[in-house]
Amino acid sequence: MKIVVTGGAGFIGSNFVYYLLENHAEDFVICYDKLTYAGNLETLKDAQENPNFKFIRGDIADREQVYKMFEEEKPDVIVYFAAESHVDRSIEEPELFLRTNIIGTSVLLDACKKFGIKRFHQVSTDEVYGDLPLDRPDLFFTEKTNLHTSSPYSASKASADLLVQAYMRTYKIPATISRCSNNYGPYHFPEKLIPLMIINALNGKKLPVYGVGANVRDWLFVEDHCAAIDLILRKGTVGEVYNIGGHNERTNLEVVKTILKILGKGEDLIEFVTDRKGNDLRYAIDPTKIETELGWTPKTKFDDGIKKTVAWYLDNRDWWEKVISGEYQNYYAKMYGNR
Ligand code: NAD
Ligand code: DAU
Repeated sequence: MKIVVTGGAGFIGSNFVYYLLENHAEDFVICYDKLTYAGNLETLKDAQENPNFKFIRGDIADREQVYKMFEEEKPDVIVYFAAESHVDRSIEEPELFLRTNIIGTSVLLDACKKFGIKRFHQVSTDEVYGDLPLDRPDLFFTEKTNLHTSSPYSASKASADLLVQAYMRTYKIPATISRCSNNYGPYHFPEKLIPLMIINALNGKKLPVYGVGANVRDWLFVEDHCAAIDLILRKGTVGEVYNIGGHNERTNLEVVKTILKILGKGEDLIEFVTDRKGNDLRYAIDPTKIETELGWTPKTKFDDGIKKTVAWYLDNRDWWEKVISGEYQNYYAKMYGNR
């Protein structure tokens, strides 16, 4: 199969590219990515050595570029990761999120309609369900939970989900949707909670915890998310939505304290700061459907995954130092500038 991974230079997309190359030597993988601030081509350095991999720089919301890619590459499958993904940025600049996450979705779906596709997979998020109260640990998001969003980011992702469902029904686009909880692991951009806290602690900087750190997220090691998407592509039923999560709920403060403990740093580095506007209280996924119908279970427990992740950031200082300095953004020009 020829699989186009949009957003494959970002955190989860790049992990998914490596997952495919390692587990499916029979497939050809194309990363289609605009390389926004969140895209880092250096992350795909090893993939570029693989004859089954190709990188194309392009914008999902640019119709001409997307149609050209479909015409030239004739993909069998689109796995759609590309997005503006950071909630705090969506609060500052909502319109960019609407362009990428909604217009981008409609352009990709139009291309599938025009050129044909065997499978379109929408990488969605548990944030489309809104949040759960902190005092009801018995409640979980199921695939039947109503969409109910809080931030411009989650509203744009919910819009994308609805567009995918509309194109499935109206134009018979063969699509699947997965809604996953918070990921963590290698190549996570250091604006998100876990990588930011690891790097600040390593640099002896304060760790800014929003509010009192009581918000709960349901953490999943990124490789488990990749395995779940791969399974949906190969064994999932067209038209279905699958929740992905591994029952690893932690308060933000617990996560931050765990990181400090692994690094042997003191809790005096923690600094409580003004909360994010509208910060969702608790996310918690019920993954029963994907477990029973497709046999997926997460392999990595939070306590192991967080140690692996801290170890990765310790071993890959060069990667995140270039991200922080901005040097990573020169990589594309260096590699492709004269081609
Ligand atoms: P990320 O911000 O790390 O990466 C996004 C990638 O998309 C980058 O490589 C960026 O260059 C690319 N991109 C952005 N705009 C583009 C455009 N217009 N055209 C082409 N490429 C563009 O994001 P992530 O955390 O890896 O998330 C990937 C997907 O997974 C998103 O759709 C997100 O909503 C979803 N998701 C993320 C999480 C999480 O915890 N990070 C959890 C569930 C779902
Ligand atoms: O649940 C899936 C979602 O998880 C994805 O759809 C999003 O793309 C992804 O960014 C993530 O969203 P969150 O808002 O949950 O992740 P973030 O790492 O930004 O924040 C997690 C929690 O930590 C949240 O309650 C805000 C808090 N936080 C975050 C940052 C960056 C802090 O306390 N301090 C910080 O500096």
